[in-house]
Formats: sequence, C-alpha cells, structure tokens
Amino acid sequence: MAHPRVAIVGATGAVGAIALDVLAQRNFPLASLRLTASPRSVGKRLPFNGEQIAVEATQPGLFADCDIAFISATDAISRDIGAAARAQGCVVVDDSGVWRMDAEVPLVVPEINAGAVAEHKGILSIPNCATTPVAMVLDALRQVARPRRVIAATYQSVTGTGAAALTELEEQVQASAAGGDAPPPEQYPHPIAFNLLPHIGSLQDNGYYSEETKMLNEARKILDDPDLAVSATCVRVPVRLCHSTALNIEFDAPIGAQQARAALRGYAGVTVVDEPANAGYPMPIDCAGRDDVFVGRIREDTALPNGIALWAVCDNLRKGAATNAVQIAEEVIARGAWLR
Ligand SMILES: NC(=O)c1ccc[n+]([C@@H]2O[C@H](COP(=O)([O-])OP(=O)(O)OC[C@H]3O[C@@H](n4cnc5c(N)ncnc54)[C@H](OP(=O)(O)O)[C@@H]3O)[C@@H](O)[C@H]2O)c1
Repeated sequence: MAHPRVAIVGATGAVGAIALDVLAQRNFPLASLRLTASPRSVGKRLPFNGEQIAVEATQPGLFADCDIAFISATDAISRDIGAAARAQGCVVVDDSGVWRMDAEVPLVVPEINAGAVAEHKGILSIPNCATTPVAMVLDALRQVARPRRVIAATYQSVTGTGAAALTELEEQVQASAAGGDAPPPEQYPHPIAFNLLPHIGSLQDNGYYSEETKMLNEARKILDDPDLAVSATCVRVPVRLCHSTALNIEFDAPIGAQQARAALRGYAGVTVVDEPANAGYPMPIDCAGRDDVFVGRIREDTALPNGIALWAVCDNLRKGAATNAVQIAEEVIARGAWLR
C-alpha cells in the first residue's frame, strides 16, 4: 500500500515539535511531510530524519495534496482548517478541544477504543491531555470492577499551555534568582513561578473551569459510560513537563489494592512504579519524554466505599498529545481508512 502524504499544522509549537520526534521514532510511513505554522514562522527550517524541512503558511488549499493532517495549533485553526482539510478528502487528527464532543468525531485513545477509528467521517480527535491518563487508568481498573465515581486533583505542567508558557515560567524563575522583577504575566492571570493556579480554561456556569468539565465529558465518551461521575479540580503548577493526577475512585464492587495493581500492570501503555517504602513513585522529572502513563501510590481508599486512591503521571506532550495522535493515525492507516 502507498504511504500517506502528511502535514503537521502547528509544527513549530510545543506539541508540533514532539510530533516530529514521535513520527521519526515510530518510523511512521510517509510519502511526504509538510510543516505549517503561523505567518511568523514561514521559512523557518525544522529538522526531521536528518533533513531540514521549511515551514509553510497554513493555507486551506494545501490539503488537496495531503492524506493525513495533524492539527496542533489554535482552536480557530482546528475549526477552519480542520473543516477545509476534511472537505478536500484529507483525514484530520485534531489535538484541540474543538471537535472532541462532536457526535461524528471519534475521540480516541487507541488502548481503549481503537475500533472507533473505523467510524471516522474525516476528523478524529485526541482527548485533553489531563483526561487521557485518567481514562486509561479507569479502563485498566474496570477489568476488575466498574468505576462509578471519580474525584481528581491535577497538577498540570506549563507546557500544557504551550511553548510560550514555558518561556514565561523560566523568565519568572530567572528574574527571581537575579533578585529582579519578571515582566507582567501574559499566559496566566498571575505569576506561575513558585505558585499554584487552581484555574485551567474558562469559567463555566456551575463554577467549574472548562478543563475540569472536559475530564467529565471526555472520559464518559471515550469509556462509553454516560453514568460515570467525575469531579475534577485542575491546578497549573510550576513544572515544565508532565501532568500528574491524584485520583480517588469508587467502584460498584469491592476491589483490593493488589487487584488494582495487577490490572494496571497488565495494561498496555501503563507502567506501575509503586514502592512507597523506598520513596518509589512516579514523578514528572522521571516520566518526561516517555510514552507510558506511570501509576503509583495504589492503595485502598479510607474515605470511599469500594475505593482506590492512586497517583498517575503522564508526559502531556507525548501520550497526552503527539504520541496519541500518531497512534490514531497508525490505526487509520492499518484500516486503510485514509484512502480517498
Ligand atoms: N500542550 C499540550 O500539552 C497539549 C496537549 C493536548 C492537546 N493540545 C492542543 O494542541 C494544540 C497546540 O498546543 P501547543 O501547546 O503546541 O501550543 P503552542 O506551543 O502555542 O503552539 C501553537 C502552534 O500553532 C501555530 N499557530 C498559532 N497561530 C497560528 C495561525 N494563525 N495559523 C497557523 N498556525 C498558528 C503556532 O505557530 P507559530 O510558532 O508560528 O506561532 C505553533 O506552531 C492546541 O489545540 C492544544 O489545545 C496541547
């Protein structure tokens, strides 16, 4: 079978840069690769597999010559360019929140619902980067008992906001070390260095921020469980890379810590690091640059009946974004579902 012609829209961004690495590392089959970004980046050259590829402007007409497009840019680009690419017969794997809850758009974590790829009508979506690891943990554990209720507190890195937020954190840290003042924050409403912001996304009528609502709605869709209850508090932390989550999960039947540990150990894409007596648990600095979801601190919950408490860490730019998107495209190719 011929290889697909591929485009990455937003190739200069935090996710786009990792998508290039992931395509090369997984030896993704490519007939050609085009890279696009905003007008600011046109002409920049990005390394890929020993070549230098020039960044092009993001123009709707480009997709007549592309078979698969990864879109990792802005909501407006995902909406407009995503629709234009689909109309030209290009299969879109979108990273934004624009398409995820559209009934015609499969929301895919291949370890959970790879089969949903076959249903696509031109656009497929990855989940939010805080939702993917939670959904994978729940899918692993539902082999033992059905999760009924989830309380999540996240600790989300600044790269989850994008490349500019990492620069902002580093500038604030450097200014503090030098005893000076950092420029006023632009990416967040408050300084992020040496701080915590319990605020990710836009405020909803019910008092939750949108990132918290995404975890509820997207987990229900991916797991095909409309009755799942999720209450999340999402917190931005001054960490460069990796989102961490403390989870308290109530099940509809008893489940022991050993059973939970075994189910997680047996699940593709999850690595258990659970030796609390030796200070062994997942940490962002160890999980950065890796594809798995790392889980530790697995214990029977003292507050919830039939409950398990645990701690999960995931690289938000890899499994939280680029790796999941590339895995979806691999599923599309395996099914021949990109052929015009
Ligand atoms: N960061 C994460 O952990 C994560 C996880 C899951 C999903 N996502 C989603 O992935 C997408 C990208 O996020 P990111 O963190 O990579 O953001 P980012 O670092 O800010 O990168 C944004 C990218 O979009 C490009 N862009 C901006 N305006 C554009 C325009 N008008 N036309 C064409 N390209 C434009 C930028 O190009 P320039 O460099 O030229 O400005 C850059 O390549 C977002 O939809 C986000 O919600 C992010």
